Amino acid sequence: MGATLITNIGELTTNVGRDGDPCGTLHDAAVLIEGTRIAWVGPAGDAPGSGGGVEVVDVGGRAVIPGFVDSHTHLVFGGDRADEFEARMTGTPYAAGGIRRTVAATRAASDDELRARLAGFVSELHAQGTTTFEIKTGYGLTVVDEARLARLASEVTPEVTFLGAHVVPSEYAHRRDEYVELVCGDMLRACAPHSRWIDVFCEEGAFSVDESRRILLAGIEAGLLPRVHGNQLGYGGGVGLAVDVDAYSVDHCTYLSDADVMALAGSDTVATLLPGVEFSTRQPYPDARRLLDAGVIVAIASDCNPGSSFTSSMPLMIALAVREMGMSPSEAVWAATAGGARALRRDDVGAIAPGRRADLVLLEAPTRVHLAYRPGVPLIAEVWSEGVPVRAAPA
Ligand code: NIG
Ligand code: FE
Repeated sequence: MGATLITNIGELTTNVGRDGDPCGTLHDAAVLIEGTRIAWVGPAGDAPGSGGGVEVVDVGGRAVIPGFVDSHTHLVFGGDRADEFEARMTGTPYAAGGIRRTVAATRAASDDELRARLAGFVSELHAQGTTTFEIKTGYGLTVVDEARLARLASEVTPEVTFLGAHVVPSEYAHRRDEYVELVCGDMLRACAPHSRWIDVFCEEGAFSVDESRRILLAGIEAGLLPRVHGNQLGYGGGVGLAVDVDAYSVDHCTYLSDADVMALAGSDTVATLLPGVEFSTRQPYPDARRLLDAGVIVAIASDCNPGSSFTSSMPLMIALAVREMGMSPSEAVWAATAGGARALRRDDVGAIAPGRRADLVLLEAPTRVHLAYRPGVPLIAEVWSEGVPVRAAPA
């Protein structure tokens, strides 16, 4: 079993919180990796012996953080919607219906085309420090296409979410009850074997609270874990529903009433904020400060998709969360690592501690603060995923 000692770490973000520092910061630290796992973490001076086949990596005082956990993406799709983005930047508002264009392009793409695109996204994620990521279906919307997207996603991640309830497809425009029935029945049965999660887009123009509840309960009955897209485009019942069904996460949370914030604060449901969406749709950003001050667990994720947020950059999410949503740099880094792990109910990622998966990011910077302080600068110097260096220059 290969062992690597990463040493001379100027600032190590462990996320093993102590004394009011949720990031569990250590200075002059070292991490020993054995195989795919972290074996030891502590002061560099106390590091276990470096003899006997241990590869030593001296990082020269730079900062190391846990690999990013991107708990919300839609990475299996065909085509893009650059024209829609351009129109939006000159005044056309974003609407949920654009999803149907990507559905048409995705249905037309072969498995191999989708697989090749997915492989490109995986290298893009690794190059930017993301080592755990979720992928949703939702651009197939037939039994066969949704099952195909779930299967392709499962080839690259265990975190697959069945999102047959993304939007009602055009062919069911006047038969939405039949579509909901299909999602809860044949489509769910075909997708469940490849999926861990069930999600619904609970929003004006997508699915009502009652429809969403029905779909989530059917998914739970089939053994999937619930998460919700809610309160993205306006106030609505998505957050209330998510808390009601004990969803692990409710994502977007852009428009929240005081009752929504109170409901989240009294629950274990994570509020996952997706600032790439507000950036790319010119909507107001969610108020992370209000949620944090109320005691809500906050995660941030990219929502990488061709319509509302075509970026997979977690460093950009951190910069936006700090600049536009009232988070401190440390809160944003926690939300992009430990927060994402909470939203995916994973206790093996999101922190640097013995026994955890050896997913680490070396920054070309002395502190994690630089991720927000130097927006747009390529600061990801090296990435280890399960102990293996994976950073490759983007294709
Ligand atoms: O998370 N909100 C629903 N789904 C995506 C948008 C997908 C699209 O526009 O294609 C989202 O923003
Ligand atoms: Fe989404």
